[in-house]
Parts: sequence; structure tokens; C-alpha cells
Amino acid sequence: MDKKYYLRSSEWFGKDDKMGFVHRSWMRNQGHPDHMFRGRPVIGICNTWSDLTPCNGHLREFAEIVKRGVYEAGGFPLEFPVMSLGETIMKPTTMLWRNLASMDVEETIRANPLDGIVLLTGCDKTTPSTLMGAASVNLPTIVVPGGPMLNGKFRGKEIGSGTATWQLSEGLKAGTVSTKDLLEAEVCSARSAGHCMTMGTASTMATMVEALGLTLPGASAIPAVDSRKKVMAHLSGNRIVEMVKEGLRMSDILTREAFENAIKINSAVGGSTNLIIHMIAIARRIGVNLELDDFDRLGSDMPLLLNLMPAGEFLMEDFYYAGGLPVIIDQLKNQIHSKAITVNGKGICENSKDTPCYNRDVIATLDKPLKEKAGIAVLKGNLCEKGAVIKPSATSGELLKHRGRAVVFETIEDYHARIDDPDLDIDETCIMVLKGVGPVGYPGMPEVGNMDLPEKLIRKGIKDMVRISDGRMSGTAYGTVVLHVSPESSIGGNLALVQNGDMIELDVHKRSLNLEVSEEELQKRREAWTPPEPVADRGYVKMFVQHVEQAENGCDFDFLKGGSGSEVSREPH
Ligand code: FES
Repeated sequence: MDKKYYLRSSEWFGKDDKMGFVHRSWMRNQGHPDHMFRGRPVIGICNTWSDLTPCNGHLREFAEIVKRGVYEAGGFPLEFPVMSLGETIMKPTTMLWRNLASMDVEETIRANPLDGIVLLTGCDKTTPSTLMGAASVNLPTIVVPGGPMLNGKFRGKEIGSGTATWQLSEGLKAGTVSTKDLLEAEVCSARSAGHCMTMGTASTMATMVEALGLTLPGASAIPAVDSRKKVMAHLSGNRIVEMVKEGLRMSDILTREAFENAIKINSAVGGSTNLIIHMIAIARRIGVNLELDDFDRLGSDMPLLLNLMPAGEFLMEDFYYAGGLPVIIDQLKNQIHSKAITVNGKGICENSKDTPCYNRDVIATLDKPLKEKAGIAVLKGNLCEKGAVIKPSATSGELLKHRGRAVVFETIEDYHARIDDPDLDIDETCIMVLKGVGPVGYPGMPEVGNMDLPEKLIRKGIKDMVRISDGRMSGTAYGTVVLHVSPESSIGGNLALVQNGDMIELDVHKRSLNLEVSEEELQKRREAWTPPEPVADRGYVKMFVQHVEQAENGCDFDFLKGGSGSEVSREPH
């Protein structure tokens, strides 16, 4: 064994005693030759492939390609499955299991003879869950983002996954889209392997990992089916072996500077509000102090440089052809921490230096951005004492300062039952308020915050209204939507006390969200308020609601903050 670097796998495979026999012997039934067990970095390929996670359906093939790269570099690759979360399939919401999946990843890595980790990710929650788990072990780790689908094409036009769903469903209500149109669009928006090709949450997460320095440069925008994605997977397999030899751990890369870079870069690409929750959770695992206000302070003045749906016109495939994320990073070189180290051992700006842009319609310049200010605004006020967020660049703009009468939906079922009732007392100046969709209340904080408008108003041509909830919103969605209200209604936050007819004032410029009800009256309502019945009396969901933290703390479990390292001293036999 090369003495220059320590291999924790040698604690399993490197001993010539009874336990060395046990650890090696059964592995040999897979046909691994003797030299694989001696002095080679063992690389765990953490695979979120699943037939039930269509966005990650190609990752089995990718694992084989990563293995080629690992073998070539002198490592010993071992692939393992982890809980995979399919955004479009799982009910009631994948967010309910993000923390569970992260525990699977963490414990599997720690319990096994692994020296370095390759995370194969794709769909929305598979990226943060694997990162959170890996961060709590803190081995050398590289991410291979699975890549977006090819552009959707519908009747000669681009169609963006997710974004088109919201547009078509509004069209259906307005009577401008037929069921036949909807069914035809269904296949047109999912033409190839890969994740959503809008700047939704999956693309935001892939961009985030590249911005954090956890992928090889340029990895995030490459379409899933482009052969260059496979090259990237192969090279990542090469590189993780080197990272083990260099002792380059996650904590060397995931510094405060890296998180600050990712916040700024996320603003410039028009990324999803979901980034906030996931990035805070990842930061807390690795021991970096990141707060909700950081996202506004660092990101809200950043210009929008990327013209992708839902904020713009293009899709991820166009982004890749235009040059990808290194073009944006290069343009931001004076605004970010240029020396933040990345998985290849180089600074983030060294990697992206002078990257040419091949399409200025897709990636704008700093001199002429698509919007002067693109980041996420953090609101405070008596309706959200611990905070709420809004993405101004995804709104129509006119409603960023608005005072309106509350129309309250106590639960998501209440909303569905009444929203299209012709007798519902609502007009376009009202503010829609949805309770019971927070981390504890739903449970799991689903992406229902971008409530569809009432059919009668859509038919009148109304496109946007102020909507407020303690839930989240798909990164592919849009509108004047206030999200992540904390404390949530189900634990007695003031959102629980809003009644039909109350006046609410939103002023995004002043970062305020207030219920115009006196503290005296609120106190009366508080005393009369009773918490909802528990959503579960057993199992994981019971544990979830007992331990999940609020949005400003990343919705992680209170007992998962931080890490437990990689050491395991005791043997099983
Ligand atoms: Fe999987 Fe959008 S549903 S990435």
C-alpha cells in the first residue's frame, strides 16, 4: 500500500486476520481479484437510479461509466443504491423523505469500506439528500449531475417541463387549451432521459453543486443524452481517485465562501426558491453558518444573466450550447470568491477563465443583463416573524407592493373544494392565503404555494394574484407567490390566525409582509386557536413531524445538524 495517503478501506480489506477474511471473502464472490483489495482507493458510487424516479432512469448506465474512470485511475469502484425520490410520482411530496434519504446515504457511506464517493444525482431531491448525507460523513466526494432532458418540442415550439404544465393547466381552465392538446403535450415535454430542462429545482440543484465546486467544470448543463455527459462521468471517476490520494474532503470545498458564491450564481441563473431550504440544510451538515437573510443580502442585487424558463425563454440544452455555467461564473469573477477551491483542486474562476459565450440571447452580459436584480427577497413582518421568501423575477412585477383582502383556505382540500366555485367571494385584488402546507402541517412542505387562480378570474384574463402560504413552489413555477412562511400555521404561527376579510400588505421593496390586525386581536385569536390533529401516530411520518425544523433552518431534522465523521471503530463479529 502507498503510505502517502491513508485509506479507511484498509481497516476492512487490509488486514490478514479473521475480520480481513470476513470483509474480503464474501466480496470475492463477485469475482474481484486480490489486487483490488490492497492499497487501492475504494470508491463508492452512490446511485439514485430507480424506475420510479424517471429523471434518474439513465444513472445505472452512468455508474458503469464512472466505474471505467475509477478503474482507469487505479481505484476500486463499488456501486450502491440509495433511496431515490421521484418528484412527479411520490405522494404526498418528496420533501417528506429528503431527510430519510440523506440518512440512508450518510449511514451507508459510513458503515462501508469507502474512501471516496461519487454521487449520481438528477431529480430535485436526489441532489440535496445525497449531499446532506455525504456532508455528514465528509469523505472526498464528487457529484455527477445526471443532466437535463433535451428541449421539449410541441407543435414547432419549445415547451419547458413543469413550466408548460402550469401554463397548460391555466389554459384548460381558461378554455384556450383542450384535453387533446394537454395529452399531446405530455409526451412532447419529455423527449429523452434526464431531469426537467427548465431552470426548475433540478437544474437549480445541478447548477448549485457546480457553483459550490463539487462537480468538474461545466458538468451541470450538459444534457443527459449528450455523449459529453458520459465523458464527464468517466473523468469524474478518474478524479475521485485523485481526490482520495490528495485528501481533498467535502469540507475543504464546502466553505462559507463556496456557499456565498452559490447564492450569487443562483441569482444570476434565476434559480429556484427551493435552493434556500436545501442549501441551508447542506451548510448546517458541513458546519457552515448560513442564514435566510444571507440569500437576500448576497443575492437579491445580482443581475439576471440567464434567459431560461420560467423567468425567460430558453431551456437547458440551449444553455449548454451557449457555453454553460462557466460563462456565467467568468462574468461574475469580480463578484464572487474567485479562489474558492473546486473538486479539481483549482479555484472556481481559474476553471472558467475566458470561457467563450456562443449565444448572447441565452446568456446576457453584465453590462446588459436581462434584469438588473434577480435574486430572492426575504420578507419579515407579523405574518412571517421568522421569514418568508419571494422570487421577484418570477412575478409580473405590478403586485410587488400590494394591499388586499385575504381569502383564506384552511387546508389544501379546502382550496381544491372551493377555488373554482363561481360563488367564491374573490376578485383579482384579493390575496389568496393557504394554511397547513408547511413542513409539519402537510406534512413535508409540498410545492403547492403557486395555487392556480380561480377559474372565473382566469377567464377574465387575470394572470397573477398575490398568494401566500407556508408551502414551497416548484422551481418551474411563477407568479407573485410568497412562500416558506415561518413559523408555519400548523405550529401556531400567525399565518394560522388569518381570517377571511383581514387586510394584508405586501411590500417586497421594503421586505415586509404584514397582517393588518392589532396584536390585541391576534392574541385573542391565538388563545382560541387549537392545533390540528396529529397527522400520524406511528412510523417515519410521526418522527418527521416531531423533529423537522422550520424552513429558515432548512427543514432538516433537529438531530441531524452537523456530522459524525467517517470513523467506525467496532467490528460486527
Ligand atoms: Fe424530476 Fe423535474 S420532476 S427533475
